[in-house]
Amino acid sequence: MRVHSDPGGTSPPAIVFDHIDKRFGAVHANRSIHLAIARGDIHALVGENGAGKSTLMSILFGFYQADSGRILIDGQESKITSPSDAIASGIGMVHQHFMLVEPMSVADNLMLGHEGGFALAGGRKALLAKLDALARDYDLTIEPDAIVSDLPVGLQQRVELLKSLVRDADILVLDEPTAVLTPGEADRLFALLRDLKARGKTIILITHKLREVMEIADRVSVLRQGACVGTYPIVDTNEAALAEAMIGRRVHMPERADTLADDEPLLTVEALCVRDARGGMAVKDVSLMVRPGEILGIAGVAGNGQTELLEALAGLRAATSGSIRFKNSDISHATPADLHALGIRHIPEDRLRYALAYPFAVWENCLIGADDEQGSLIARQTVMGDAARLMQAYDVRPADPLLRAGALSGGNQQKLVLGREIEQRPRLLLVGQPTRGVDIGAIAFIHRRLLDLRAQGVAILLVSVELDEILRLSDRILVMQEGRIAGERRAGETDERDLGLLMAGIA
Ligand SMILES: Nc1ncnc2c1ncn2[C@@H]1O[C@H](COP(=O)(O)OP(=O)(O)OP(=O)(O)O)[C@@H](O)[C@H]1O
Ligand SMILES: [Mg+2]
Repeated sequence: MRVHSDPGGTSPPAIVFDHIDKRFGAVHANRSIHLAIARGDIHALVGENGAGKSTLMSILFGFYQADSGRILIDGQESKITSPSDAIASGIGMVHQHFMLVEPMSVADNLMLGHEGGFALAGGRKALLAKLDALARDYDLTIEPDAIVSDLPVGLQQRVELLKSLVRDADILVLDEPTAVLTPGEADRLFALLRDLKARGKTIILITHKLREVMEIADRVSVLRQGACVGTYPIVDTNEAALAEAMIGRRVHMPERADTLADDEPLLTVEALCVRDARGGMAVKDVSLMVRPGEILGIAGVAGNGQTELLEALAGLRAATSGSIRFKNSDISHATPADLHALGIRHIPEDRLRYALAYPFAVWENCLIGADDEQGSLIARQTVMGDAARLMQAYDVRPADPLLRAGALSGGNQQKLVLGREIEQRPRLLLVGQPTRGVDIGAIAFIHRRLLDLRAQGVAILLVSVELDEILRLSDRILVMQEGRIAGERRAGETDERDLGLLMAGIA
């Protein structure tokens, strides 16, 4: 049976946020937000980094308490004071940063629930029966004995979603679920969301990708600086109008100027082979070079060796054969510290895990990766001033260096790490997924900074799964597929379709 949404109809909305207000110290994260989510809808929630999206959802899920306001579920006021209350009210959440116990199996994670929800009744047998039923209803199979840390991101996310579904959630909240997914995985997730909707589930989807909003949502609400500035049926809006509602102005993407890179390569890689964490060959016989003043884009579906390539170039993973040269010196066996000294900086794809220490203040995080003399000798005052300037320049909000890094919104954490590495004035910048999780204003800003570096003669190796980003920024593009270079293109001689075929191994 198909259950259709019932806008303004007879049944009460699945959820009403009734004038929800929340402050964190001086930050007014949610300003009297009033918002109704119709049952059976896919309702998108968009807004700049720090607009208050995750906070509102954390209140719904009982992680935080609102300072004032009420939450109504099916028209009834609900006191949600913990995640177990939320789960008991049929609410499930897939967090921006997964909450899985990585060394444990899928089944154990599903039993546990982990966010304070109840352990599943009926034990393992009941769980396996539920998983079977879910696999039948939806295209949702998973190996219960697999260890979570061995699973690709797309499947880890599936475990997160299953945690809610095995507890019979009928309202699902997904916080930026596609930020970490490949295009194929994102398509599969959307197909699943449509199936869930068809069976009457209500879905709240937070995303920065307005194209996705237009593709899948029934309705969209825009948050700006903590306030809800509007809710629109999808048929009445478009990407440009949403962007303007989010930011309050038009966003202009920077254009890449035609410049001439030097002839001499700065980085030369020859016949490089690198193994992945499980010992399989991830990078197979890759040769490439990057010149000063040039952006070399590496396109590809995630998991085709780009991560291992970046790690090998950054001195974090040993190559099994082949060579890496920086100008004339062999850096095949250099340590990250050696590479720093040469002016090579690396912005890892998974920067929230590897590049920030959440319990520490922003100013302390600004010292990570600084050279030793810098780190030990500069006065706290200087660091504090530098950190404040960095936050201003990269629009990290709120621009307070004393704040715990973990208290920044997801996108603002991203901007902080990018700023810290870019401001080290690298000669060669290795960067993975530079705009993952940031809003469109910040994407335009980061693209401008990367193009500035290029104009200053920095050599940039850019790994991204976003084809429009690759096409907009790169002078040359290599496509990686199953660890090999499947093809090379010059800017202006290719398009998404062409690259897509190379990525799929068809061309
Ligand atoms: N635990 C906390 N302590 C202090 N401030 C916080 C805390 N959680 C969130 N904030 C602040 O509240 C504001 C809203 O943050 P929130 O995480 O809701 O933003 P968001 O819309 O989800 O952004 P993003 O798109 O970057 O994920 C931000 O200014 C953030 O720094
Ligand atoms: Mg968020």
